[in-house]
Amino acid sequence: CGIVGYVGPKNSAEFLLTGLRRLEYRGYDSAGVATQIGGEFQITRSVGRIDALAQRLQEKHARQQIIDGPTGIGHTRWATHGPATEENAHPHLGGDGEVVLVHNGVIENFQVLKDELIAKGYEFKSATDSEVIAHLIAEGLKLTPEDPEQLNMRYVTAVQWAINQLRGTYGLAIAFRERPNMLIAARFGSPLVIGVGRGEYFIASDASPLAGSTDRIVYMADHQLAVLTPEGFSVLHRDQGKIRVDVRPLEVSDDNVELGGYEHYMLKEIHEQPEALRNAMRGRLDEENATAVFGGLNLTPQQLRGIERITLTGCGTSWHSALVGEYLIEELARIPVEVQYASELRYRNPPIENNTLVFGITQSGETADTLAALRETKRKGHRTLAICNVVGSSIAQAADGGVYLHAGPEIGVASTKAYTSQCCVLTMLALYFGRMRHMSFERGQEIIEELHRLPGAVQQALSCDLQVRDVAAKYKDATNVLYLGRQFNFPTALEGALKLKEISYIHAEGYPAAEMKHGPIALVDKATPSVFIIPHGTTYDKVMANMEEVRARGGPIIAIASHDDPQVDSVADDVIRIPRVPEFLQPIVSVIPLQLLSYHVALLRGCDVDKPRNLAKSVTVE
Ligand code: G6P
Repeated sequence: CGIVGYVGPKNSAEFLLTGLRRLEYRGYDSAGVATQIGGEFQITRSVGRIDALAQRLQEKHARQQIIDGPTGIGHTRWATHGPATEENAHPHLGGDGEVVLVHNGVIENFQVLKDELIAKGYEFKSATDSEVIAHLIAEGLKLTPEDPEQLNMRYVTAVQWAINQLRGTYGLAIAFRERPNMLIAARFGSPLVIGVGRGEYFIASDASPLAGSTDRIVYMADHQLAVLTPEGFSVLHRDQGKIRVDVRPLEVSDDNVELGGYEHYMLKEIHEQPEALRNAMRGRLDEENATAVFGGLNLTPQQLRGIERITLTGCGTSWHSALVGEYLIEELARIPVEVQYASELRYRNPPIENNTLVFGITQSGETADTLAALRETKRKGHRTLAICNVVGSSIAQAADGGVYLHAGPEIGVASTKAYTSQCCVLTMLALYFGRMRHMSFERGQEIIEELHRLPGAVQQALSCDLQVRDVAAKYKDATNVLYLGRQFNFPTALEGALKLKEISYIHAEGYPAAEMKHGPIALVDKATPSVFIIPHGTTYDKVMANMEEVRARGGPIIAIASHDDPQVDSVADDVIRIPRVPEFLQPIVSVIPLQLLSYHVALLRGCDVDKPRNLAKSVTVE
């Protein structure tokens, strides 16, 4: 879910709508805003996308209803408790309407609290866990007397009293009927930032809504609560009282979050990959010592040299880059690597040996399972690092240190540039760890040279777009697709299949090519295309043999092959050419046509590429 809030002299609805549009990737099954005009709240909610909400607001406006006010909060939802209906959409009122709030997160003990509140006479209008918080704050207000010296304090105390009873996670933006021109934000486990303007202040789930409105940002941490008025803001910590926080420059600009001439964010982000890779490498390749350098690992070279094992964890596409990382680090640095789904790792209690380094890999830095897995391993005394795109995100804050991708905001729900940037960072880490151990100076230099050539190779790979469009048209009606690759390109097969599933709703499976004969080959028929990722390399002949096996059974074949491979045409129905790069860099290049294939298939099937059904970009719940 996504949250926005505004206090200041302007009409808040404009910022709320723009902000919600930019947060829509976080969930988009319903949305709502509450604006405050004097003592009155004006609440507008709707099922569906932000466009539907904007339409509602326009209708109200046309009926001369006042919808604007200088204080407001808004929300875009990804349903957890209760279906996507208007009643369940946020904002929710508490008490007799003295409180209104928007919430991101999950309240685990909501049923107990709800029963208690019902017994006290509170009436519930929705099935959400969030409404419980609104009533609880109203109850808190009843119990807290006004302090004429410190008018805001009563509200802070009531909110603190309420959130102390919550078990679960929350990011909250709260407005009060009796106290217009003030918002309270509170955070535990769900991201929140404050935008610091001049005479106006903003609340948002991440930095993107702020671009164009202000250039200063505060990343809130857990157990913090902020009070915002047009005169200023203050931050309190549950245990420490009023605290000082860092106001940082906002690194996101309007250009980063707009479509910039592309039809979809996904397409824009696919094409941004050469630049994203350059940004991931900038300042990190040390030619003189033939290694990589990282500023934020917060571990001494001695500590890093002592690392005997590495665990990589993440979810979805980030889990796939972890698999690429496993091949890379084992091959280049000879350190044993284990890859774990974060959702499994958090509950598994595996015996993790001493001197194990745990990397959480995540685009958003907010995925609840990855955060929990990292916290759990940290609690057990292991060093944890993050490979993360979003600056100041929860996982970036929770880890001992880490590496930022610098890929810029990724808005399309299906991850593209973050994936290749993660693979690139993992390659540099493998180089770094390798050079600490056995890797020669010359080998280090070779790898650096190859990395310098990588953005160009990706640029070249992008030129297959037109051809991929034709291939997409040919296979768009398939109901099953197999993706097959080996070694470094086995994760590519998984990622290609996931991309297709996510945005075109075609069932797809990725397999190590040789595993095909142990099951998936039973699926092969005329209607089931197989995508073979078969650039030159050590297993080329073997994968070729697998391709023959599929052809012998009448299955259509799409091959992703090196530009100078003369053999593949005789076996495959369609060949998409990519430039030659060494095997360890192939995942970054060979995934490009697969991203484009899923994009074009989805487009031809009339699917919503950037906002596929049921998914959200940032999954901040378990
Ligand atoms: C969601 C998104 C995926 C993403 C995964 C992990 O499922 O839809 O695209 O790969 O979360 O997200 P993260 O931000 O941790 O990389």
